[in-house]
Amino acid sequence: MIPLVNLQRQYAGLKAEIDAAFAAVLERQEFINGREVKAFTAAYLAAFGAKYGTACSNGTTAIELALKGLGVGPGDEVITTAHTFFATVEAIMNVGAEPVFVDIEPGSYTLDPANLPVGRKTRAIMPVQLYGGMADMTAIMAAAASSNLKVIEDAAQAHLATHKGAMAGTIGDAGTFSFYPGKNLGAYGDAGFVIARDAHVAVLISKLADHGREAKYSHDVIGGNARMDELQATVLSVKLKHLKKWTARRQAVAGYYNDKLKRAGFKVIEPLTHSTCVYHLYVIEAADRDAAADKLKAAGIGVGVHYPIPLHKQPALKNLAASNVNLPRTDHAAAHVLSLPICGDITDAEVETVTDAVLKMVRPA
Ligand SMILES: Cc1ncc(COP(=O)(O)O)c(C=O)c1O
Repeated sequence: MIPLVNLQRQYAGLKAEIDAAFAAVLERQEFINGREVKAFTAAYLAAFGAKYGTACSNGTTAIELALKGLGVGPGDEVITTAHTFFATVEAIMNVGAEPVFVDIEPGSYTLDPANLPVGRKTRAIMPVQLYGGMADMTAIMAAAASSNLKVIEDAAQAHLATHKGAMAGTIGDAGTFSFYPGKNLGAYGDAGFVIARDAHVAVLISKLADHGREAKYSHDVIGGNARMDELQATVLSVKLKHLKKWTARRQAVAGYYNDKLKRAGFKVIEPLTHSTCVYHLYVIEAADRDAAADKLKAAGIGVGVHYPIPLHKQPALKNLAASNVNLPRTDHAAAHVLSLPICGDITDAEVETVTDAVLKMVRPA
C-alpha cells in the first residue's frame, strides 16, 4: 500500500529526536504556556519572516481567533471560496459572521478575485491557499484596499508557499495555519498558528487564545482556551527544521507527476504566476472519478478526494442565503479532483508505481 501521506516513515526517521524531545517535556511536567511553545513560536515566525503570531490549539480556532482579533463578527460578511475544507466556513459562522461564496480560478483552485461581490456588510476576504498553492494575493489585497476590507489567509495547507516572494499567511492582515498530523508540518494531535501583521491585533489574539488574560487571574477581554500545548510544540520544533527539505521533495515529486500526467492529458494544479506551490496535495482531474479512486485503492494506491461536496452544497448550510449560488467551476472541481500520494518521504519507486497505475487505470476529465 502506498499511503496518501506516510507518517510512519516520517516518524521512523525522526524517532530519536522526537522521543528525546518528548521525554524532556515529561521530565519537566510543564505542559501549558511553557518554554516549548515560546521556542516554537519564535522559530515559526523566523521561518516566515513574520513579527507577530500566536501558537494555538488547531487550524479552525486559528481562523476564529484571526477573525475576532480583526473585529469581524455578527452582521459582517466574509467573502470566501466553497472549494475548501468545512472548517473555513465553520470559523466564519462561529464568530457570528456570514460567508459569501465566490467561484474558484480553475488553474489554482483558489478564490477568483475577479468581480468580488463587495457589499455594505462585507468586512473581510478569506482566500484559502488550497493544496499548498497561493490565491492571487496581489489582486485580493488591491480589492481589499479599495473597499477597506480585512484579508485573512487560510493557509492551513500552505506552509512556506510564496506569492511574489512573500510567504503564505504573511500577506493579509492575518494568516492561519493548521498542524493537523497530515499537514506539511504536522503535530501529534491538534495544533495551529495565527500570524498577524499588526502588533495590537497580535496581542489581542494572544489574549483571546488564553482566557483574555493580561496577567495571572486578571482578564481584560472575554477569550477562551485555544492554547497549543508543550508536547505539540516540541514535536513541531523538531519537524520545523526539516520542513524546507520536505517541501523541496514534494515539489520535485509534483514535477515528476506533472511531466508524465500532463503529457497524458490530465489537468493538474497550475500555480499562478509569481507564486510557488508546496503541494500539500497533488491533485489531478479524473473522468468517472469515484470509480477511478476505487480502482486505484484496490491496486494499493492511497488516493483521496479534496473535497467531494462544495460548501454551498453542504447539508449544514442548506438554509444559508449564501448557499443559493451558482459556482460552476467549484462544482466541476468537486466532481473530478483526485489527490495522489505525496509527502516528504515518498520514494522514487513509489512515485513511479503511482504514475503507472494512474496512466493505466484513470482517464483525464
Ligand atoms: C483549508 C483548511 N482550513 C482549515 C483547516 C482546519 O484545521 P484544523 O483541522 O487544524 O482545525 C484545515 C485542515 O484540517 C484546512 O485544510
